[in-house]
Amino acid sequence: MISSSSSADAPVGIFDSGVGGLSVLRHIRSLLPNEHLLYFADSGFAPYGDKPEQVVAERSLAIARFLVAHGAKALVVACNTATVAAIRLLREHYPDMPIVGVEPGLKPAAAVSRNGKVGVLATDGTLCGEKFRLLMEQVSASSSAEFLLRGCTGLADQIELGELGSEATISLLERYVAPLLDQGADTLVLGCTHYPFVQSAIEDIVRRHAGREVALIDTGDAVARQLERLLAAASLLRAPDGAASLTGYTSASAATLRAAFDNLLGYAGAVEEAELP
Ligand code: DGL
Repeated sequence: MISSSSSADAPVGIFDSGVGGLSVLRHIRSLLPNEHLLYFADSGFAPYGDKPEQVVAERSLAIARFLVAHGAKALVVACNTATVAAIRLLREHYPDMPIVGVEPGLKPAAAVSRNGKVGVLATDGTLCGEKFRLLMEQVSASSSAEFLLRGCTGLADQIELGELGSEATISLLERYVAPLLDQGADTLVLGCTHYPFVQSAIEDIVRRHAGREVALIDTGDAVARQLERLLAAASLLRAPDGAASLTGYTSASAATLRAAFDNLLGYAGAVEEAELP
């Protein structure tokens, strides 16, 4: 149900350690074109993947406070690493707010895999987290899938630099993806929101290396649908009433986030530099 109350007109706050969450934001924009969006890129503090869980949790809470102070009616943690570290804490702090996290798509991967061998590409922070361990146990108990885990140190940094197809990025991808293909993976989970931006480079490696069909799993669309469900349940879906805005905040340089909006979303949005307490 669409509500016309002033809170339904409030924006949805989305954040990530950097530009990776834009891979989720593009699904939200296409499914929910009437929603005003705030996007916080913590690029000045990235990467999250090699930082202690407690540090990422505190940082995530500071960003959530910033977004709520800027009027957010709902939060999307568009980062697997921050979801593992902070989603429980955020739900404790904002018990009445719709909050959606991202987690690696192990369940859909187990469902599409034909041989049960699923490679998981993610940050070390995600793969070492308790939340991920529980998810893997749960999916393993209800399927025969075998998960081959690969922490991709440095990959999110390359994508932060805008190096989607550079030699350094391709050789890093070769190093991470080829051994999973050699072990027989027929499905690869993109378990970090930065990775959909190198999907075509991964597909090239699959073509060169495996010569067989390999499914790539990204959960951005499922996150957008979950956000829609939660907003609808809280009567917080914004009515189609004039154009919806996108405002970016970054802890690094505005020019870099502006370039990311342009290159990764094809959109020139308003961007401000923001300092967290
Ligand atoms: N985009 C992030 C994720 O989904 C984290 C990348 C990083 O900062 O290490 O896990």
